[in-house]
Amino acid sequence: MVAELVLALDLPRALDAFELLDRLPALRWVKVGPMLMTREGPGVVRDLVDRGLRVFLDLKWHDIPNTVSGAVAAARELGVAMATVHVLGGRAMLDAAVVSAGPDLALVGVTVLTSHDPGSYAQTVGRPGVDLNAEVARLAGMATEAGLRGVVCSPREVSLLRERLGADPYIVVPGIRRGPDALGDQVRVASAEDATRNGATHLVIGRPLLHAADPSAVLEEFMKESRCAAP
Ligand code: C5P
Repeated sequence: MVAELVLALDLPRALDAFELLDRLPALRWVKVGPMLMTREGPGVVRDLVDRGLRVFLDLKWHDIPNTVSGAVAAARELGVAMATVHVLGGRAMLDAAVVSAGPDLALVGVTVLTSHDPGSYAQTVGRPGVDLNAEVARLAGMATEAGLRGVVCSPREVSLLRERLGADPYIVVPGIRRGPDALGDQVRVASAEDATRNGATHLVIGRPLLHAADPSAVLEEFMKESRCAAP
């Protein structure tokens, strides 16, 4: 399988996003997060969909079932192709989200945020000695049992989750870098080739493309890497 490349549009203005997209005609997927959505509103999603792009709306919903269900319905009406919810929102929230998503909106569950280490996660959930891999696997299982299309995880958990979840669920992975790329604030990174080989279906890439002098050439490099990993 060749993983899809998803450009994270972590930019303050829609205008900058569209200028960059003009230079990337080969791109099929974009991710809209809280930064762009809060500044520009749903019009930016409509414009991206009208351009023929598949939009991943990454707002990581975690609220009562009725509220999340309404947000998912709004995303579906906008033509969003994929969206995130926090698995920790609980089974009733996940069930309500799945019903609202219908067959065309792929919901993926955030397990443990990659910004947590075992200490900060243990403090947050009030449990000593949390094994983060076990916790990620447990939450990923909850997500797929509730009927979510897949999960989001760090590059370090891709193999574990592909083994536990089987072949079908989406595994969406941020933190993708080439050798020379700056890590920025990412710690747990992987190459596009390794993440694809381990079973990722969607690779989320932001700064290596957003800051590239020639984004089209960099996109082609990432595409080549993910094709190389395909069996
Ligand atoms: O710039 P960079 O390639 O690090 O961007 C990664 C993208 O993936 C950002 O939009 C970030 O918000 C998102 N993300 C992440 N870690 C997660 C979930 C999402 O880096 N656990």
